[in-house]
Amino acid sequence: MGPNVLGYAHPKVDEAVRNSIGDGNLSTLNAPEEVALAERLVDLHPWADMARFARTGGEANAIAIRIARAASGRDNVAICGYHGWHDWYLATNLSDTGKLDDHLLPGLDPTGVPQNLNGSTHPFRYNDFEGLVSLVEEKDIGTIKMEVMRNQPPKGLFLQKIRKLATDRGIVLIFDECTSGFRQNFGGLHLNFGVSPDMAVFGKALGNGYAVTAVLGKRDIMQAAQSTFISSTFWTERIGSIAALATLDVMEEEKPWDGIIAVGNGITQRWHELGAKYKLPISTSGIPSLSSFTFNSPNNLAYKTLITQQMLTQGFLAASSVYVCTEHTQKIIDDYFAALEPIFALIQECEGGRDIIDELNGPVCHSGFSRLN
Ligand SMILES: Cc1ncc(COP(=O)(O)O)c(C=O)c1O
Repeated sequence: MGPNVLGYAHPKVDEAVRNSIGDGNLSTLNAPEEVALAERLVDLHPWADMARFARTGGEANAIAIRIARAASGRDNVAICGYHGWHDWYLATNLSDTGKLDDHLLPGLDPTGVPQNLNGSTHPFRYNDFEGLVSLVEEKDIGTIKMEVMRNQPPKGLFLQKIRKLATDRGIVLIFDECTSGFRQNFGGLHLNFGVSPDMAVFGKALGNGYAVTAVLGKRDIMQAAQSTFISSTFWTERIGSIAALATLDVMEEEKPWDGIIAVGNGITQRWHELGAKYKLPISTSGIPSLSSFTFNSPNNLAYKTLITQQMLTQGFLAASSVYVCTEHTQKIIDDYFAALEPIFALIQECEGGRDIIDELNGPVCHSGFSRLN
Protein backbone atom coordinates (compact mmCIF):
# COMPACT_ATOMS: atom_id res chain seq x y z
CA MET A 1 0.00 0.00 0.00
CA GLY A 2 2.97 2.33 0.35
CA PRO A 3 2.82 4.17 3.68
CA ASN A 4 6.02 2.75 5.16
CA VAL A 5 8.73 4.80 3.47
CA LEU A 6 10.83 4.34 6.63
CA GLY A 7 10.09 0.61 6.82
CA TYR A 8 7.81 -1.22 9.20
CA ALA A 9 7.83 -0.45 12.95
CA HIS A 10 10.28 2.44 12.79
CA PRO A 11 11.74 2.66 16.32
CA LYS A 12 11.56 6.46 16.64
CA VAL A 13 8.03 6.70 15.27
CA ASP A 14 6.83 3.81 17.41
CA GLU A 15 8.50 5.22 20.53
CA ALA A 16 6.78 8.60 20.05
CA VAL A 17 3.45 6.83 19.68
CA ARG A 18 4.03 4.58 22.70
CA ASN A 19 4.96 7.57 24.87
CA SER A 20 1.74 9.32 23.94
CA ILE A 21 -0.61 6.52 24.89
CA GLY A 22 -0.15 6.81 28.66
CA ASP A 23 -1.25 10.45 28.56
CA GLY A 24 -4.49 9.68 26.79
CA ASN A 25 -4.84 9.60 23.05
CA LEU A 26 -8.10 11.44 22.51
CA SER A 27 -10.00 14.39 23.87
CA THR A 28 -12.74 16.62 22.52
CA LEU A 29 -10.29 19.40 21.77
CA ASN A 30 -7.60 19.31 19.13
CA ALA A 31 -4.30 18.00 20.45
CA PRO A 32 -1.34 20.39 20.56
CA GLU A 33 0.50 18.00 18.25
CA GLU A 34 -2.15 18.60 15.60
CA VAL A 35 -1.40 22.32 15.68
CA ALA A 36 2.33 21.62 15.50
CA LEU A 37 1.77 19.33 12.52
CA ALA A 38 -0.34 21.96 10.76
CA GLU A 39 2.42 24.52 11.26
CA ARG A 40 5.05 22.09 10.03
CA LEU A 41 3.17 21.21 6.86
CA VAL A 42 2.33 24.81 6.09
CA ASP A 43 6.01 25.73 6.55
CA LEU A 44 6.98 23.05 4.06
CA HIS A 45 4.38 24.30 1.57
CA PRO A 46 4.64 28.09 1.57
CA TRP A 47 1.62 28.55 -0.74
CA ALA A 48 -0.63 26.99 1.97
CA ASP A 49 -2.05 28.72 5.04
CA MET A 50 -4.26 26.19 6.78
CA ALA A 51 -4.66 22.47 7.36
CA ARG A 52 -7.26 19.92 8.35
CA PHE A 53 -6.57 16.33 9.29
CA ALA A 54 -8.33 13.04 8.74
CA ARG A 55 -7.43 9.38 8.91
CA THR A 56 -7.67 7.97 5.39
CA GLY A 57 -6.78 9.26 1.96
CA GLY A 58 -10.26 8.83 0.51
CA GLU A 59 -11.70 10.72 3.47
CA ALA A 60 -9.21 13.59 3.07
CA ASN A 61 -10.07 13.78 -0.62
CA ALA A 62 -13.78 13.95 0.20
CA ILE A 63 -13.06 16.78 2.65
CA ALA A 64 -11.05 18.63 0.00
CA ILE A 65 -13.84 18.26 -2.56
CA ARG A 66 -16.47 19.48 -0.11
CA ILE A 67 -14.39 22.57 0.72
CA ALA A 68 -13.55 23.21 -2.94
CA ARG A 69 -17.19 22.97 -3.98
CA ALA A 70 -18.18 25.28 -1.15
CA ALA A 71 -15.47 27.76 -2.14
CA SER A 72 -16.06 27.71 -5.90
CA GLY A 73 -19.84 27.57 -5.66
CA ARG A 74 -19.79 25.03 -8.50
CA ASP A 75 -20.53 21.31 -8.26
CA ASN A 76 -18.63 19.85 -11.17
CA VAL A 77 -15.21 18.34 -10.72
CA ALA A 78 -12.57 17.27 -13.25
CA ILE A 79 -10.32 14.44 -12.07
CA CYS A 80 -7.18 12.67 -13.21
CA GLY A 81 -5.99 9.83 -11.01
CA TYR A 82 -7.27 7.72 -8.16
CA HIS A 83 -8.84 9.64 -5.29
CA GLY A 84 -10.50 7.05 -3.04
CA TRP A 85 -13.73 5.07 -2.81
CA HIS A 86 -16.25 7.79 -1.97
CA ASP A 87 -19.43 8.62 -3.90
CA TRP A 88 -18.18 11.92 -5.31
CA TYR A 89 -15.32 10.08 -7.08
CA LEU A 90 -17.08 6.90 -8.22
CA ALA A 91 -19.79 9.14 -9.66
CA THR A 92 -17.34 9.43 -12.57
CA ASN A 93 -18.51 6.00 -13.68
CA LEU A 94 -22.24 6.58 -13.47
CA SER A 95 -23.73 6.62 -16.90
CA ASP A 96 -27.21 7.03 -18.25
CA THR A 97 -27.21 3.52 -19.61
CA GLY A 98 -25.72 2.01 -16.46
CA LYS A 99 -23.69 -0.42 -18.56
CA LEU A 100 -20.27 -1.40 -17.31
CA ASP A 101 -18.88 -0.94 -20.82
CA ASP A 102 -19.58 2.75 -20.54
CA HIS A 103 -17.34 3.14 -17.55
CA LEU A 104 -14.92 5.95 -17.98
CA LEU A 105 -12.49 4.40 -15.52
CA PRO A 106 -12.75 0.69 -16.39
CA GLY A 107 -12.60 -1.48 -13.30
CA LEU A 108 -14.40 0.84 -10.89
CA ASP A 109 -17.99 -0.27 -10.47
CA PRO A 110 -20.26 2.45 -9.05
CA THR A 111 -23.15 0.24 -7.90
CA GLY A 112 -24.64 1.90 -4.83
CA VAL A 113 -23.58 5.39 -5.84
CA PRO A 114 -26.72 7.53 -6.33
CA GLN A 115 -27.57 8.16 -9.97
CA ASN A 116 -28.27 11.77 -9.00
CA LEU A 117 -24.52 12.32 -8.95
CA ASN A 118 -24.28 11.44 -12.64
CA GLY A 119 -22.44 14.18 -14.50
CA SER A 120 -20.83 15.72 -11.42
CA THR A 121 -17.31 14.27 -11.85
CA HIS A 122 -15.48 14.07 -15.18
CA PRO A 123 -12.15 12.41 -15.96
CA PHE A 124 -9.37 13.80 -18.12
CA ARG A 125 -6.22 12.14 -19.37
CA TYR A 126 -2.81 13.02 -18.03
CA ASN A 127 -0.88 15.28 -20.44
CA ASP A 128 -4.04 16.02 -22.45
CA PHE A 129 -4.34 19.71 -21.71
CA GLU A 130 -6.71 20.40 -24.61
CA GLY A 131 -9.04 17.66 -23.34
CA LEU A 132 -9.15 19.37 -19.96
CA VAL A 133 -9.83 22.76 -21.55
CA SER A 134 -12.82 21.29 -23.43
CA LEU A 135 -14.12 19.74 -20.24
CA VAL A 136 -13.79 23.01 -18.35
CA GLU A 137 -15.65 24.84 -21.11
CA GLU A 138 -18.42 22.28 -21.54
CA LYS A 139 -19.07 21.20 -17.96
CA ASP A 140 -18.76 24.35 -15.82
CA ILE A 141 -15.94 22.77 -13.83
CA GLY A 142 -15.34 24.38 -10.41
CA THR A 143 -12.61 22.04 -9.16
CA ILE A 144 -9.70 20.25 -10.84
CA LYS A 145 -8.31 17.39 -8.78
CA MET A 146 -5.33 15.40 -9.98
CA GLU A 147 -2.31 13.36 -9.02
CA VAL A 148 0.79 15.43 -9.80
CA MET A 149 2.39 12.46 -11.53
CA ARG A 150 1.78 8.74 -11.48
CA ASN A 151 2.94 6.68 -14.42
CA GLN A 152 4.32 9.26 -16.81
CA PRO A 153 6.07 12.59 -16.22
CA PRO A 154 4.32 15.82 -17.22
CA LYS A 155 5.01 16.72 -20.83
CA GLY A 156 6.14 20.27 -21.51
CA LEU A 157 4.34 22.76 -19.31
CA PHE A 158 1.31 20.54 -18.60
CA LEU A 159 1.16 21.35 -14.89
CA GLN A 160 1.93 25.05 -15.39
CA LYS A 161 -0.81 25.31 -18.02
CA ILE A 162 -3.33 23.72 -15.68
CA ARG A 163 -2.32 26.18 -12.96
CA LYS A 164 -2.95 29.10 -15.30
CA LEU A 165 -6.24 27.65 -16.54
CA ALA A 166 -7.47 27.24 -12.96
CA THR A 167 -6.40 30.74 -11.99
CA ASP A 168 -7.96 32.33 -15.09
CA ARG A 169 -11.30 30.56 -14.58
CA GLY A 170 -11.57 30.74 -10.78
CA ILE A 171 -11.25 26.96 -10.51
CA VAL A 172 -9.90 25.38 -7.31
CA LEU A 173 -6.84 23.28 -8.19
CA ILE A 174 -6.20 20.33 -5.86
CA PHE A 175 -3.16 18.09 -6.04
CA ASP A 176 -3.77 14.65 -4.54
CA GLU A 177 -0.39 13.77 -3.06
CA CYS A 178 -1.61 10.79 -1.03
CA THR A 179 0.82 8.52 -2.82
CA SER A 180 3.42 10.91 -4.22
CA GLY A 181 3.94 13.06 -1.09
CA PHE A 182 7.07 12.55 1.04
CA ARG A 183 8.29 9.79 -1.27
CA GLN A 184 10.46 11.66 -3.78
CA ASN A 185 11.20 14.73 -1.62
CA PHE A 186 10.38 16.40 1.68
CA GLY A 187 6.74 17.31 1.02
CA GLY A 188 4.55 17.30 -2.04
CA LEU A 189 5.98 16.19 -5.36
CA HIS A 190 4.61 19.45 -6.77
CA LEU A 191 7.45 21.28 -4.99
CA ASN A 192 9.85 19.53 -7.39
CA PHE A 193 7.88 20.83 -10.37
CA GLY A 194 7.55 24.37 -9.02
CA VAL A 195 3.76 24.47 -9.47
CA SER A 196 1.53 25.34 -6.51
CA PRO A 197 -2.05 24.15 -6.13
CA ASP A 198 -4.81 25.83 -4.12
CA MET A 199 -5.18 22.71 -1.97
CA ALA A 200 -3.18 19.51 -1.53
CA VAL A 201 -4.02 16.19 0.07
CA PHE A 202 -1.47 14.00 1.86
CA GLY A 203 -1.71 10.49 3.26
CA LYS A 204 0.24 7.26 3.19
CA ALA A 205 3.87 8.19 3.96
CA LEU A 206 2.94 11.06 6.29
CA GLY A 207 2.53 8.80 9.35
CA ASN A 208 4.80 5.94 8.24
CA GLY A 209 2.00 3.43 8.75
CA TYR A 210 -0.08 5.26 11.36
CA ALA A 211 -3.41 6.62 10.19
CA VAL A 212 -3.10 10.31 9.47
CA THR A 213 -3.97 12.29 6.36
CA ALA A 214 -3.95 16.00 5.72
CA VAL A 215 -5.66 18.61 3.59
CA LEU A 216 -3.65 21.79 3.10
CA GLY A 217 -5.04 24.88 1.48
CA LYS A 218 -5.00 28.59 0.92
CA ARG A 219 -6.84 30.55 3.57
CA ASP A 220 -9.62 31.98 1.42
CA ILE A 221 -10.51 28.52 0.15
CA MET A 222 -10.13 26.63 3.45
CA GLN A 223 -12.36 29.18 5.18
CA ALA A 224 -15.24 27.88 3.06
CA ALA A 225 -15.23 24.93 5.48
CA GLN A 226 -16.96 27.27 7.93
CA SER A 227 -19.96 27.48 5.66
CA THR A 228 -20.52 23.71 5.55
CA PHE A 229 -20.29 20.83 8.04
CA ILE A 230 -17.11 18.75 8.26
CA SER A 231 -16.39 16.94 11.53
CA SER A 232 -15.52 13.54 12.94
CA THR A 233 -14.87 12.14 16.42
CA PHE A 234 -11.54 10.56 15.63
CA TRP A 235 -10.05 13.51 13.84
CA THR A 236 -8.87 14.82 17.22
CA GLU A 237 -7.21 11.49 18.03
CA ARG A 238 -3.55 12.36 18.44
CA ILE A 239 -1.60 9.23 17.60
CA GLY A 240 -1.71 10.16 13.92
CA SER A 241 -0.34 13.65 14.52
CA ILE A 242 2.35 12.34 16.85
CA ALA A 243 3.38 9.67 14.36
CA ALA A 244 3.47 12.24 11.57
CA LEU A 245 5.65 14.66 13.57
CA ALA A 246 8.07 11.85 14.42
CA THR A 247 8.07 10.67 10.80
CA LEU A 248 8.85 14.17 9.56
CA ASP A 249 11.67 14.49 12.11
CA VAL A 250 13.24 11.24 10.91
CA MET A 251 12.75 12.19 7.27
CA GLU A 252 14.29 15.62 7.76
CA GLU A 253 17.33 14.02 9.36
CA GLU A 254 17.74 10.99 7.12
CA LYS A 255 16.45 12.31 3.79
CA PRO A 256 15.17 8.85 2.79
CA TRP A 257 14.12 9.95 -0.71
CA ASP A 258 17.74 10.11 -1.92
CA GLY A 259 18.22 6.45 -1.07
CA ILE A 260 14.86 5.11 -2.19
CA ILE A 261 15.03 6.95 -5.51
CA ALA A 262 18.42 5.36 -6.18
CA VAL A 263 17.15 1.92 -5.14
CA GLY A 264 14.02 2.33 -7.27
CA ASN A 265 16.09 3.35 -10.30
CA GLY A 266 18.38 0.37 -9.70
CA ILE A 267 15.45 -2.05 -9.54
CA THR A 268 13.97 -0.58 -12.72
CA GLN A 269 17.26 -0.97 -14.53
CA ARG A 270 17.59 -4.61 -13.40
CA TRP A 271 14.05 -5.40 -14.60
CA HIS A 272 15.11 -4.11 -18.02
CA GLU A 273 18.33 -6.14 -17.92
CA LEU A 274 16.44 -9.29 -16.97
CA GLY A 275 13.88 -8.65 -19.70
CA ALA A 276 16.69 -8.21 -22.25
CA LYS A 277 18.49 -11.36 -21.06
CA TYR A 278 15.39 -13.49 -21.57
CA LYS A 279 14.26 -11.58 -24.67
CA LEU A 280 11.08 -10.44 -22.96
CA PRO A 281 10.10 -6.90 -23.96
CA ILE A 282 8.95 -5.04 -20.85
CA SER A 283 7.80 -1.48 -20.12
CA THR A 284 8.43 0.32 -16.89
CA SER A 285 6.58 3.31 -15.46
CA GLY A 286 6.05 5.38 -12.32
CA ILE A 287 8.12 7.64 -10.13
CA PRO A 288 11.46 6.01 -9.25
CA SER A 289 10.46 5.23 -5.65
CA LEU A 290 7.23 3.59 -6.87
CA SER A 291 8.21 1.80 -10.02
CA SER A 292 6.42 -0.96 -11.92
CA PHE A 293 6.84 -3.09 -15.03
CA THR A 294 4.61 -4.90 -17.48
CA PHE A 295 5.41 -7.50 -20.10
CA ASN A 296 4.54 -6.25 -23.55
CA SER A 297 2.59 -9.41 -24.17
CA PRO A 298 -1.11 -10.31 -24.30
CA ASN A 299 -0.30 -12.73 -21.46
CA ASN A 300 0.92 -9.95 -19.17
CA LEU A 301 -1.67 -10.58 -16.43
CA ALA A 302 -1.03 -14.31 -16.45
CA TYR A 303 2.71 -13.66 -16.14
CA LYS A 304 2.08 -11.22 -13.31
CA THR A 305 0.01 -13.90 -11.57
CA LEU A 306 2.81 -16.41 -12.05
CA ILE A 307 5.31 -14.01 -10.52
CA THR A 308 3.10 -13.44 -7.46
CA GLN A 309 2.54 -17.18 -7.06
CA GLN A 310 6.18 -18.19 -7.44
CA MET A 311 7.64 -15.32 -5.43
CA LEU A 312 5.37 -16.14 -2.48
CA THR A 313 6.97 -19.56 -2.31
CA GLN A 314 10.31 -17.78 -1.91
CA GLY A 315 8.99 -15.46 0.82
CA PHE A 316 8.48 -12.38 -1.38
CA LEU A 317 5.22 -10.48 -1.64
CA ALA A 318 5.93 -9.29 -5.16
CA ALA A 319 3.96 -8.78 -8.32
CA SER A 320 5.15 -6.18 -10.77
CA SER A 321 5.51 -2.98 -8.78
CA VAL A 322 7.47 -1.84 -5.77
CA TYR A 323 6.96 0.83 -3.13
CA VAL A 324 10.61 1.28 -2.20
CA CYS A 325 11.43 1.92 1.45
CA THR A 326 14.61 2.60 3.41
CA GLU A 327 14.79 -1.02 4.57
CA HIS A 328 15.22 -2.44 1.08
CA THR A 329 18.88 -3.44 1.48
CA GLN A 330 21.11 -4.54 -1.38
CA LYS A 331 20.83 -8.11 -0.08
CA ILE A 332 17.05 -8.06 -0.20
CA ILE A 333 17.15 -6.73 -3.74
CA ASP A 334 19.77 -9.26 -4.85
CA ASP A 335 17.72 -12.08 -3.29
CA TYR A 336 14.61 -10.73 -5.00
CA PHE A 337 16.28 -10.78 -8.41
CA ALA A 338 17.76 -14.23 -7.75
CA ALA A 339 14.22 -15.47 -7.06
CA LEU A 340 12.77 -13.58 -10.02
CA GLU A 341 15.22 -14.78 -12.68
CA PRO A 342 13.97 -18.39 -13.00
CA ILE A 343 10.43 -17.03 -13.38
CA PHE A 344 11.57 -14.84 -16.28
CA ALA A 345 13.17 -17.97 -17.78
CA LEU A 346 9.86 -19.82 -17.47
CA ILE A 347 8.00 -16.88 -18.99
CA GLN A 348 10.41 -16.97 -21.93
CA GLU A 349 9.38 -20.60 -22.47
CA CYS A 350 5.73 -19.56 -22.30
CA GLU A 351 6.35 -16.93 -24.96
CA GLY A 352 7.79 -19.80 -27.00
CA GLY A 353 4.63 -21.87 -26.71
CA ARG A 354 4.49 -23.45 -23.23
CA ASP A 355 1.00 -22.96 -21.78
CA ILE A 356 1.14 -20.35 -19.02
CA ILE A 357 -2.28 -21.35 -17.66
CA ASP A 358 -0.91 -24.81 -16.84
CA GLU A 359 1.66 -23.15 -14.60
CA LEU A 360 -0.90 -21.29 -12.49
CA ASN A 361 -2.44 -22.69 -9.30
CA GLY A 362 -5.40 -20.35 -9.45
CA PRO A 363 -7.17 -17.85 -11.69
CA VAL A 364 -5.38 -15.05 -13.52
CA CYS A 365 -5.31 -11.87 -11.41
CA HIS A 366 -7.57 -8.90 -12.09
CA SER A 367 -6.14 -6.01 -14.03
CA GLY A 368 -7.10 -3.49 -11.34
CA PHE A 369 -8.61 -0.39 -12.86
CA SER A 370 -7.27 1.56 -15.79
CA ARG A 371 -5.71 4.82 -14.80
CA LEU A 372 -5.90 7.84 -17.01
CA ASN A 373 -2.55 8.98 -15.73
C1 LIG B 1 -3.47 9.28 -5.05
C2 LIG B 1 -4.34 8.58 -4.06
N1 LIG B 1 -5.37 9.24 -3.52
C3 LIG B 1 -6.18 8.66 -2.61
C4 LIG B 1 -5.97 7.37 -2.20
C5 LIG B 1 -6.91 6.75 -1.21
O1 LIG B 1 -6.31 6.68 0.04
P1 LIG B 1 -6.86 5.63 1.12
O2 LIG B 1 -6.65 4.27 0.53
O3 LIG B 1 -6.02 5.90 2.34
O4 LIG B 1 -8.31 5.95 1.37
C6 LIG B 1 -4.89 6.64 -2.72
C7 LIG B 1 -4.66 5.25 -2.30
O5 LIG B 1 -4.08 4.44 -2.98
C8 LIG B 1 -4.07 7.25 -3.70
O6 LIG B 1 -3.05 6.61 -4.27
